[in-house]
Amino acid sequence: MRKTVIAGNWKMNKTASEADSFLKELAPLVKGAKCTVIACVPFTDLTAAVKAAKRTNIKIGAQNLHFEKSGAFTGEISADMLVNLGVEYVIIGHSERRQYFNETDETVNLKIKAALAAGLKPIVCVGELLSEREDDITAEVLRRQIKIAFKGVSADEAKGIIVAYEPVWAIGTGKTATSEQADEACGVIRSCIASLYGKAVANKVVIQYGGSMNAKNAEELLSKPNVDGGLIGGASLKSADFSIIVAAAAK
Ligand code: 13P
Repeated sequence: MRKTVIAGNWKMNKTASEADSFLKELAPLVKGAKCTVIACVPFTDLTAAVKAAKRTNIKIGAQNLHFEKSGAFTGEISADMLVNLGVEYVIIGHSERRQYFNETDETVNLKIKAALAAGLKPIVCVGELLSEREDDITAEVLRRQIKIAFKGVSADEAKGIIVAYEPVWAIGTGKTATSEQADEACGVIRSCIASLYGKAVANKVVIQYGGSMNAKNAEELLSKPNVDGGLIGGASLKSADFSIIVAAAAK
């Protein structure tokens, strides 16, 4: 019922020329994929990436945006600027941005609304810290993040949002959540969305898992009913690994 979405988050990796050659190498490997394939690249790579991905099934996303339309915000990038380049997706509220760049649930909400207003599809990241999991408050943390993120978002808009469940302790650590932990947390997110908009909307929302997903563990994680895809960091930087994950999504 929901199409699997496999997205790479390159983080601060690859120059524009590296993006061009990487996407040209990746395109034949993921051609004909049964899932949606997205590469979320650095701002400076977007033009090259959109060009390289033309006439392929790879969609291009950014990793952040500012919530204001324009103005005196030195160094920031607006939703309209991304749309104008041909960008279709944008990651919002990644834990690295929450951790290092002071993003909050409130700014995540503003960014989601700005992205939707411009016609961009948000990939909204939520997830608990290790201490929060140890304190057994994972579900509460996820519900708070989701409720604030979706504030003022209509049911129609909510259907088009992708949520990425990324437990902070699993990002870049090589520690993956078990498929049961991932399924349970994605289930909490789905029922929270159901409490806000009803089951029909919640059943349409794509919920990805992210955190040390790789060519070896992807199939198991993606086999779970509430896990509709992956947001992949490290393993998205190698075309062979990323294409194995894309192939695992079809199984
Ligand atoms: P890793 O796959 O490198 O753990 O990163 C996950 C992530 O943060 C994707 O957004």
